[in-house]
This record gives sequence, C-alpha cells and structure tokens, in this order.
Amino acid sequence: MELSQCINERRSIRDYQTKEVSRETILELINAAIKAPSWKNSQVSRYYVTDTSEKTKEFLPCMAEFNQKNIANAPVVIVSTVVKGRSGFERDGSYTTHLKDGWQYFDNGLQVQNICLKAYELGLGTLIMGIYHEQKIREFFQIPDTEEIVAVIGVGYPNIKPEMPKRKTAEEITTFK
Ligand SMILES: Cc1cc2nc3c(=O)[nH]c(=O)nc-3n(C[C@H](O)[C@H](O)[C@H](O)COP(=O)(O)O)c2cc1C
Repeated sequence: MELSQCINERRSIRDYQTKEVSRETILELINAAIKAPSWKNSQVSRYYVTDTSEKTKEFLPCMAEFNQKNIANAPVVIVSTVVKGRSGFERDGSYTTHLKDGWQYFDNGLQVQNICLKAYELGLGTLIMGIYHEQKIREFFQIPDTEEIVAVIGVGYPNIKPEMPKRKTAEEITTFK
C-alpha cells in the first residue's frame, strides 16, 4: 500500500469484528513501532498486550466506560509505556530542554503512529485511547514503577469505515517567514 493512502485512510475504529489477530501479526505492528526515531536512539517505549478476545475482555474494566464500549469486541489491546528518566534527560537526571519529560511521550507517539499505519496496511483497525484507569492497568500487567503508562491501543478487524473527521488546513496551521 502507498504511504499516502495509509496516511489518508487510517481512521480511529470504534466497532470491531470478533475475529482474532495472530501473535505474529501483533509482532509485525511492534516491529513497525521500533523503526521510529527516538531521542538519542533511547528507544524507551515498551508494550503490554492482550492477544485474545478472552484476555481483552478481562482487561476492559481498566478502561473508562465509554472506551470499554469503543473496544467491546476488539480482540487485542496494546498498552504502551515509556521507561522514565531517559528520553529528554541528562545522565545526572536533569532535563535537557524546556520540554522537560515531554520527549519521552513524543517518542512514544511516533512509535504508536507507526503501529496504527502498519495495522491499516494489514487490514486492521486501531483506536488510540488516553482515558483509562492507570492503577488498574498497572496491576493487570504488573507494570513496574520505572515505567509510565502512556496510550492504550485497541486493535482488530474493523466493522466500519468511518469518514475522516474535519481537519484544519495546512495553510491554517503553518506560518512562513
Ligand atoms: C493521544 C490520543 C488520545 C485519544 N484518546 C481517545 C479516547 O480515549 N477515546 C477515543 O474514542 N478516541 C481517542 N482518540 C482518538 C481521536 O479522537 C481521533 O484520533 C480523532 O478524533 C481523529 O480521528 P481519526 O483518528 O479517525 O483521524 C485519541 C487520539 C489520540 C492521538
């Protein structure tokens, strides 16, 4: 698939088929994630996955109620985390720039977009979700305190083909000098 087609047609999917996604396919998505650039190549993102409908249903209470509905039938959830204190940090633990710890989330976002684009290429739908119960997710996957939970991504075969929500124009958001 052409990159432009992938960029233009990927949509957030809030209705999934019950069809399972293989572990091999999930690893293809993570393999796309790891190709993204990162602060000093620090590669701080980590992933925690429920890879069957049964396990994903057990995970659902970790999400805000409206998001539970959004991914009710999704067979896969990928939780992205970052290892704290590396991306955007000096060796002595101080921030390198005014963005403070923001770079670790920036890096994670680049990886997560790769996951979403690769998924679209493979015929899968995704939904990035930022509203969840942090502590419940931490306990569910036994995520250590050295990592910060960032995004939860629902993955599965889509049941719908949504229109693109309205976008600002390039001219509107760009300033030339
Ligand atoms: C950081 C982030 C957090 C998001 N959180 C949620 C969420 O909790 N629930 C949801 O339904 N969609 C969520 N979305 C999806 C956005 O609503 C969606 O990307 C936006 O409306 C544009 O639609 P599109 O992805 O189809 O282009 C999130 C997207 C991003 C990037």
